[in-house]
Amino acid sequence: MKILLIFGVVCSAGFFYVEGHGTLREPPQRSSVWRDERFASLNPTPNYDDGGLWCAGEKQDYAAEACGVCGDGFSVARPRPNENGGTYANGIITGRYRRGEEIPIAFELTAQHNGYFSVQICDDLTLESHECFQRRGFLPLAGGTTTKIDVTNRQGFVNTTVQLPPDLSCQYCVLRLYYRSCKDWGECDGVCDCPNPPGAMCCGPQEVVLNCADISVSL
Ligand SMILES: *[C@@H]1O[C@H](CO)[C@@H](O)[C@H](O)[C@H]1NC(C)=O
Repeated sequence: MKILLIFGVVCSAGFFYVEGHGTLREPPQRSSVWRDERFASLNPTPNYDDGGLWCAGEKQDYAAEACGVCGDGFSVARPRPNENGGTYANGIITGRYRRGEEIPIAFELTAQHNGYFSVQICDDLTLESHECFQRRGFLPLAGGTTTKIDVTNRQGFVNTTVQLPPDLSCQYCVLRLYYRSCKDWGECDGVCDCPNPPGAMCCGPQEVVLNCADISVSL
C-alpha cells in the first residue's frame, strides 16, 4: 500500500511537469532558478511545478489581467507565490545586462500548445502590476520590430534574442515572459481578425503563461 502511494505521488509530480505549459529558463524565472546550477549556492526555493504558471488554468484575453501578475491563480492573495515578496521570489538576479543590449531568451515548452510568446519589462521597484509591464509594450526581437515568437508545433527549448529599451537602466527590474497558447476556438474581435460566425482557432480567451525573472540593467 505504502509503495503504491509513493508510486502515485511520484507519477503525479512527473505528470504535472509534463502537463505544464512551459517555463522561462534564460533568464531563469523565479520558480525555475533552482533548476539552474549557476544559482545553486543561493538556495532558491524549488517549485517542481514551475512549468505550470498558467493562471490556474483560467483562460485569458490579450491583456491577461484575470491572471496573477507572474502567472499564479488570480484568486490567490498578494503577494502571490511568484510575485515580489512571495515564496519563490528570492531576490536572485538571474540576468545582468547593459542598457539597449540584445539579450538571450530561452523558453522551454513542456507541452505543445502552439501560439506565441513575447517579453515585457517592468522597472517599478514596488510590487509588480500588469499596468507596469504594459507601459513599455513588448520588446522587439533583435534586429527587427516583431515582438512575437511563434511556437506552432514546437516543444522543448525555443531560444531567441530580444532588444532591451535604449533608455532603460535599473538596479532591479522584472522581465516577464508572456505566452499565449492556441488551443481553443473562439469569437473574433479587433485583435483576432476573421468572420463571426464561425470564429476561428486561437481567437477569444486562451490559456496564458506568465513568468517573472529578476534582472538588472546597467548604464
Ligand atoms: C537554448 O537555451 C538553453 C538555456 O540557455 C540551452 O540549454 C540550450 O542548449 C539552448 N538550445 C539551443 C538549441 O540553442
